[in-house]
Amino acid sequence: MRILFLDQSGKPGGAELSLMDLAQAYRDRCLVALFEDGPFRDRLEQVQIPVTCLAAQGMKVSKDSSWWQSLGSIGGLLSLLKQCLRLSRDYDLLYANTSKALVLGALTSKLSGRPLVYHLRDILSREHFSRSNLRIAVTLANSCASAIIANSQATRDAFIQAGGNAELCHVVYNGFDPAQYKTNAEEVQWLRKELGIPAGQFVIGHFSRLSPWKGQHVLIDAVAQMVPELRSRITVLLVGSALFGEDDYVEQLQQRVEQLGLGERVQFLGFRSDISQLMTACELVVHSSTSPEPFGRVIVEAMLCGTPVVAAQAGGAVELIEPEATGWLAPPGDAVGLSQLLERLLGEPELLEQVALQARGVSRDRFHLHQTQQQVEQLLERCLPL
Ligand code: UDP
Ligand code: GLC
Repeated sequence: MRILFLDQSGKPGGAELSLMDLAQAYRDRCLVALFEDGPFRDRLEQVQIPVTCLAAQGMKVSKDSSWWQSLGSIGGLLSLLKQCLRLSRDYDLLYANTSKALVLGALTSKLSGRPLVYHLRDILSREHFSRSNLRIAVTLANSCASAIIANSQATRDAFIQAGGNAELCHVVYNGFDPAQYKTNAEEVQWLRKELGIPAGQFVIGHFSRLSPWKGQHVLIDAVAQMVPELRSRITVLLVGSALFGEDDYVEQLQQRVEQLGLGERVQFLGFRSDISQLMTACELVVHSSTSPEPFGRVIVEAMLCGTPVVAAQAGGAVELIEPEATGWLAPPGDAVGLSQLLERLLGEPELLEQVALQARGVSRDRFHLHQTQQQVEQLLERCLPL
């Protein structure tokens, strides 16, 4: 089976990194077509996954733009469609990895007769999408996709609630190669030193692009509210950058850190590629999205690194963690609640260790890349004409 993967982004967000893991299995018979150039292209090339950029300029349709605004990019869409149709001749199946790729994939599928699979990685709700874009996504998915893969039950539920066809939609969790999350203890120690973290500090890592709904401000507020004796033991590492241009939020975060007197406590590390080493260097990973997270790769990655994790209790995150057994869940956006939980966990190092150990074992089985690849392969096979 030859697959043409479509993805709107040239940046390595979670959807793109998950696609990279999946496409490894089809390296010798696939092509990843991106709508814009960027560092994600280099990442694919580094692992020998064939990649092409359809156009220098992507479709300028933001998730919350209206249908009328989207029309402004129709010229761009037509040019992408022409290129995509030409490429589709050499492939048996189209695989849309993002919502904007769905638009192009659906049109190409109709015109080329190639089956379309849509990997749904967003919670299709009004929190993130305009009413018209929601309608377009659901209508195209229902009418053009042979199968829809949802990255969590929460994502599938939201799709159905928005009018999506339940029969078409199957949950497949993201998969990970546990070997990529093994680290060398010396390397990790060296990293802590390089970051200037004094011995005995309790390091809390937050690994997400900097964006208001990823809720870095919730963690900062939570740390600010801790009792001073505990707060002075904390170092927060904010790992990630404003991948999709949320620069105002970065500025607000930096100001907040200064205003709250946390300049000594919080480090902004920007986008990093040494995620496993950084996660292993932390005593705790906090995920604090304020809107339901569709899946949350960082949660499973922390588990695989053997670092205990607290996640916001909403969306797919709830499916990843069994509270008090493989991690903890905290109400989204509740800095006071998170602060109290952090204070409690700081006093329970043995429990942290025990939960992290359990989470590592469970996550290696439950989210193994091989299993994900197999489940996807089975679905794809069913979409091909007999
Ligand atoms: N990530 C990264 N470098 C960073 C911050 C994050 O490589 O500086 C990775 C992180 O390890 C994870 C992905 O980006 O694999 C984010 O995926 P997730 O599903 O957590 O969130 P998304 O950004 O897709 O909503
Ligand atoms: C999207 C979601 C994220 C998910 C990723 C991979 O980027 O926001 O929650 O983990 O896709 O499926």
